[in-house]
Amino acid sequence: MNTKIDVLIPEEDIRKRISEMAAELSEKYKGEEVLLVGILTGSVFFLAELAQKMTIPVEIDFMAASSYGSGTESSGRVLITKDLARSIEGDHVIIVEDIVDTGQTLHLLTEMLIERNPASLELAVLLNKPSRRKVCLDADYVGFDIPDAFVVGWGLDYDQKYRDLPYIGVIKE
Ligand code: IMP
Ligand code: MG
Repeated sequence: MNTKIDVLIPEEDIRKRISEMAAELSEKYKGEEVLLVGILTGSVFFLAELAQKMTIPVEIDFMAASSYGSGTESSGRVLITKDLARSIEGDHVIIVEDIVDTGQTLHLLTEMLIERNPASLELAVLLNKPSRRKVCLDADYVGFDIPDAFVVGWGLDYDQKYRDLPYIGVIKE
């Protein structure tokens, strides 16, 4: 098999857009401390770049989840395979994720974290596929809206590969 990857979003555009998002977040949360909650594993490159470009103090923690969506039911379930290291009660929390696709995972994670009584909870994603949404979910900060194509790079994988690509690419086989 010969795998070819077409560039959908070049590295320069991604870094520029993440800088803009970091500036927007730094302005919004000026004078506060925020906790960035990355969803493993896909969020790590976006989270690292975002955190380094933000100009306010941030803390960083991670969660991992497997979602069990059902084709026939409207509500999926999510299994937390790695939880946060500490309480988020009273904290300004920003969930950081690589992509919103159907929205199921982030919908359930958001509901779960709200129950822990953070001072605020927002959602920042690098990519958004609006055409694929199954549940109502709007990210507060979106890097790029993309068409319904399977993408890799910046943390996004195909069979655990290509997460390290510094651009967003579409696999052509
Ligand atoms: P959903 O929004 O609950 O459907 O799940 C989104 C998750 O599916 C993301 O966190 C990714 O791990 C994965 N995913 C969705 N679309 C893509 C893609 O185009 N490439 C790689 N992973 C994807
Ligand atoms: Mg993911």
